[in-house]
Amino acid sequence: MSLLEVRDLSISFDTPDGSVQAVNKLNFTVEEGKTLGIVGESGSGKSQSVFSIMGLLAKNGHASGSVKFKGKEILNLPEKDLNLIRSEQIAMIFQDAMTSLNPYMKVKKQLMEVLIKHKGLSSKDAFTESLKMLDAVKIPESKKRMEMYPHEFSGGMRQRLMIAMSLLCNPKLLIADEPTTALDVTVQAQILALLNELKKEFNTGIILITHDLGVVAGSCDDVMVMYAGSTMEYGTVEDIFYEPSHPYTVSLLKSIPKLSDNLEKLETIPGNPPNIMNLPKGCAFEQRCYAAKPECKIERPALVGFSNNTRHRACFSEGFQNV
Ligand SMILES: Nc1ncnc2c1ncn2[C@@H]1O[C@H](COP(=O)(O)OP(=O)(O)OP(=O)(O)O)[C@@H](O)[C@H]1O
Ligand SMILES: [Mg+2]
Repeated sequence: MSLLEVRDLSISFDTPDGSVQAVNKLNFTVEEGKTLGIVGESGSGKSQSVFSIMGLLAKNGHASGSVKFKGKEILNLPEKDLNLIRSEQIAMIFQDAMTSLNPYMKVKKQLMEVLIKHKGLSSKDAFTESLKMLDAVKIPESKKRMEMYPHEFSGGMRQRLMIAMSLLCNPKLLIADEPTTALDVTVQAQILALLNELKKEFNTGIILITHDLGVVAGSCDDVMVMYAGSTMEYGTVEDIFYEPSHPYTVSLLKSIPKLSDNLEKLETIPGNPPNIMNLPKGCAFEQRCYAAKPECKIERPALVGFSNNTRHRACFSEGFQNV
């Protein structure tokens, strides 16, 4: 049994101009101790997909399909059941650490409260555990920092603090939505290395959302590439990097800057993603695709399994294009 099994997850929003389909029939799984990367441009539906798993969709959003966590259906569960799962089994870290930290409360108190409330620890034990977790995420001078407020931490340290907080209850699944976007590259690399270590140590399953394929390379086992709310390609990180099977993935890979690149000639994908209010009938990527064929305008390609079903892609083009 997989840790998380998502089947036909679709999300729509009611808007004054009618209903919009933001996410369209996603299928993916997350195993214990493995990281699934979800990549795609802004607006492709990455955040809303995981928000629906956490029961955090806005009021005008509706999710359908199935999300099984350890075999149990959790999609659209009542708030009180979700609260239990959210605090003890599934944790989420956001792009901006300050959104989940209380600026007026000492770090010590924020960490200890979680353990006292959810694990029934005494203050003394909660203090010891909190300190251990700050050490685990490599926050230096942890004892001194326990007495500080979050705003006294640098951006990178705050992100570590948020990771520490989300790991306090040993969640089985950690969802990280662009956890390093706001950080400079060295700190970004440290945080990603930290997530990798924690995954090994606690056997946590991780969903890592990013628009940066470079981030995926070093940290993910599997990758789902999304475009305009749908999966374009899904496979192992090696498959995606060494043998991308969808023109959108190929184009994304080509737009990662390399040291040897002449930056003036860096390839970008022409055009912009379509407006989800008005998606084309055929493939959503057709207008920007170098391999588009006449049928791509007429019909939307289904996600089809290949390589013994270890890989999936939604495309009519033949063969693969190595980058
Ligand atoms: N409450 C809402 N009402 C209507 N549309 C919404 C609502 N919330 C999100 N959307 C739309 O859903 C689509 C998917 O949004 P989502 O936040 O999942 O994108 P994303 O892939 O996470 O992008 P980014 O990389 O910018 O974070 C977007 O087009 C967005 O405008
Ligand atoms: Mg997002």
